[in-house]
Amino acid sequence: MFTISVSTKKMLDNSVECYAYIVEKDFKSSVIADEIKKTCPQLLAAIKQKKFVGATLDTITVPFMRDNVLAYCVLVGLGEVESNGGVSIIERYRRAVGQLVKAVSACGATSVALELVSPSKKLSLEYVAKQATITSHLAYYFFDDFITDKNKKAKDLNITLVVDNRNKKVVQEWVEQGSIIGAAVNQARHWIDTPPTQLTPQDLAKKAQVVAKRNKLGITVFHESEIIKMGMGGLAAVSRGSEVDCALIILEYKAKKKNAPTLCFVGKGITFDSGGLSLKPADFMETMKEDMAGAAAVICAIDALAQLDCPVNIVAIAPTSENLPSGTATKPGDIVTFYNGKTAEIKNTDAEGRLILADALSYAVKQYKPDAMIDLATLTGACSRALGPFYSGLFTEHDEIKKRLMEASDISGDQLWQLPMGDDYKKAITSTVADICNIGNSKISAGASTAAHFLQHFVGDTMWAHLDIAGTAFDVPNISYYRPGGTGAGVRLLVELAMKW
Ligand code: BES
Ligand code: ZN
Ligand code: ZN
Repeated sequence: MFTISVSTKKMLDNSVECYAYIVEKDFKSSVIADEIKKTCPQLLAAIKQKKFVGATLDTITVPFMRDNVLAYCVLVGLGEVESNGGVSIIERYRRAVGQLVKAVSACGATSVALELVSPSKKLSLEYVAKQATITSHLAYYFFDDFITDKNKKAKDLNITLVVDNRNKKVVQEWVEQGSIIGAAVNQARHWIDTPPTQLTPQDLAKKAQVVAKRNKLGITVFHESEIIKMGMGGLAAVSRGSEVDCALIILEYKAKKKNAPTLCFVGKGITFDSGGLSLKPADFMETMKEDMAGAAAVICAIDALAQLDCPVNIVAIAPTSENLPSGTATKPGDIVTFYNGKTAEIKNTDAEGRLILADALSYAVKQYKPDAMIDLATLTGACSRALGPFYSGLFTEHDEIKKRLMEASDISGDQLWQLPMGDDYKKAITSTVADICNIGNSKISAGASTAAHFLQHFVGDTMWAHLDIAGTAFDVPNISYYRPGGTGAGVRLLVELAMKW
């Protein structure tokens, strides 16, 4: 179990096993409470001997005896506050929190008090409290459902944020908000990490039902026969090789205010991507349970937004299917007709994400006429190769949504980098036998941009952005608050975006 609470007691009066500070480079020893220095007299000597100056993510753990019980003082460095080396101070703060959670667990401890201080005058304490809360949730998460050795399962962690009396109330409030967001990200990660045979499209629909019930959201789930009848030829084609029915999941949250704008989030929900008849090589398939990360992100974001009383209406749509080869599977050369009447030639059944999104985007535009629409998809290996695991690709031709997304990205920590969508890429997906083709021409390559162009055929005039999370959704290395497995990429971003809309 993970808990996080706020305390106004003096550091040492909190009965915990670890006492922690996140410190900037060349910090003064005065930032550490006198009573700690007194009870742990070896602390300053240890800092000196280990030459601990607070460089980025450096950590020092000093054990001491407190009332005859072993305790620890843990310091984690932030580096220089002003120079950022391309990583912002708040992102370094998040990573320091991740590092702290690791250090506490390395001591075998389950409780820590952290003195909450803003790392920069530019960052309010409320914001820092919220980030510390979200990030400690993230750092605690560990997919241990199938680990049978009790010693290797996640241990409890209780975090106490220590603040002045005058800040208690607001910090408390932001800790509550942060906990809602952190739990939503971890819920998405848990679904992503669940083995693909235990999280099929029908299972995902059941998870969405639970979310809807808990938050009193509107929910509609269309099943395969309805999807075929409605003319959603893309989703139906992808599902043809699978024994399990596909689904289109739609969740609706209504803001209290009348006439509030409506945001539509659409997420790719391929619960396993084998590539279909255009079968992937074995090693490319290993992590393809992650291919529903977009769907998880939009469902978990609306879950958090409902709890946060979001001021705008939200619709979350997740087309979900398996992509498998079989005697009934869609074949390269097949042509499909989508919900909006357009047709596409399928040259490669592994470019399936755009086929299911095409129907979902057309449906969203027709049924909801949203003020803005954002899709999230583990769409292309090309995007992952271009940006690696640290930035999701942003594709849009609308400046307003770009601006809002980039702001939400900076604040939330879900990093974005814009990739081009110029008209020159349009020709890459022409077909001689249908309106468009589901793979790009090899001369133009730029697979992430041509995929975005495919999607653009289904959004009409709607203000729209596409986020390719193929690189960021799973197995992100070197970030202390993630572990191997799902990251929940996009949840923090969508929540921040909608709350500020
Ligand atoms: N789900 C994959 C993309 C992917 C790759 C996600 C790596 C996460 C990590 C997608 O369906 C796919 O297979 N795309 C193909 C498209 C190609 C056939 C045009 C790709 O990127 O290779
Ligand atoms: Zn694929
Ligand atoms: Zn895929």
